[in-house]
Amino acid sequence: MQEDKLRSYLVDLPLGGWRYFDRVTSTNDIALAWAQAGAPDLALVVADDQSAGRGRFHRQWITTPGAALAISLVLHPTPPELHFLSHFAGLGALAMHTALKENWQLESQIKWPNDILVNKCKVAGILIENTWLGDQLQALVIGIGLNISPRAIPPPDQLMFPATSLETALGYPVDRWEVLRSILYQLVTWRNQLGSLEFLKVWGDALAFKGEWVTISGTGGHDQVGQVVGINASGSLRLAGSNGEEFLIDAGDVHL
Ligand code: BTN
Repeated sequence: MQEDKLRSYLVDLPLGGWRYFDRVTSTNDIALAWAQAGAPDLALVVADDQSAGRGRFHRQWITTPGAALAISLVLHPTPPELHFLSHFAGLGALAMHTALKENWQLESQIKWPNDILVNKCKVAGILIENTWLGDQLQALVIGIGLNISPRAIPPPDQLMFPATSLETALGYPVDRWEVLRSILYQLVTWRNQLGSLEFLKVWGDALAFKGEWVTISGTGGHDQVGQVVGINASGSLRLAGSNGEEFLIDAGDVHL
């Protein structure tokens, strides 16, 4: 039933194929396995429920059936795109940011590297995972989880960061497959501009916490503190220390 409906939304998109599941462990698991078995570029996995959805830093990601989007997209970066691998997190974020703006007139911010915030609360997260053939990248998987209705928002004791849903922010119901279609359309469009000045500009303009003092954790070492300046050409976060000197963050979690 869901599959028939979904088909009508995906028909116009240049996908390499798509698979829908009522329940999986994690859509990223299915996409990575499909990639290893020869999935084409832009192969899409969609699930209504995940028993072991995961986020960055091995965190649990809860998917409420009927209330959320849980998808994973297999990409085979072209040789030019291999120079911009660090931009793929931004690609997913930019696709969501632009889809919300253009289709629902909703302003969102990108909490570096790739969480989407609305009204300072997290509405979506992205998990990028790769599969390798020796030292060659076989495929990159962009996993996206988005809270559509309030039912998708996990209980407060399970949250690392305040959360919201798209419908909470808009104040009216939305069709989640329309949201999916719109994100995929934007992702395919922005992919053509990966690494461009426009890509970096829009990513930087949408950056959350600009000018604010943040703490970066999660890289195994000590926390780092700085004032958010922007994003550099490699997609790293630019921070300024208390002496005003700039430094770069390549990975980690941003907290206020
Ligand atoms: C994060 O916020 O840390 C990233 C969350 C990513 C969740 C999505 S849901 C679809 C895909 N499958 C997963 O297991 N994770 C991603």
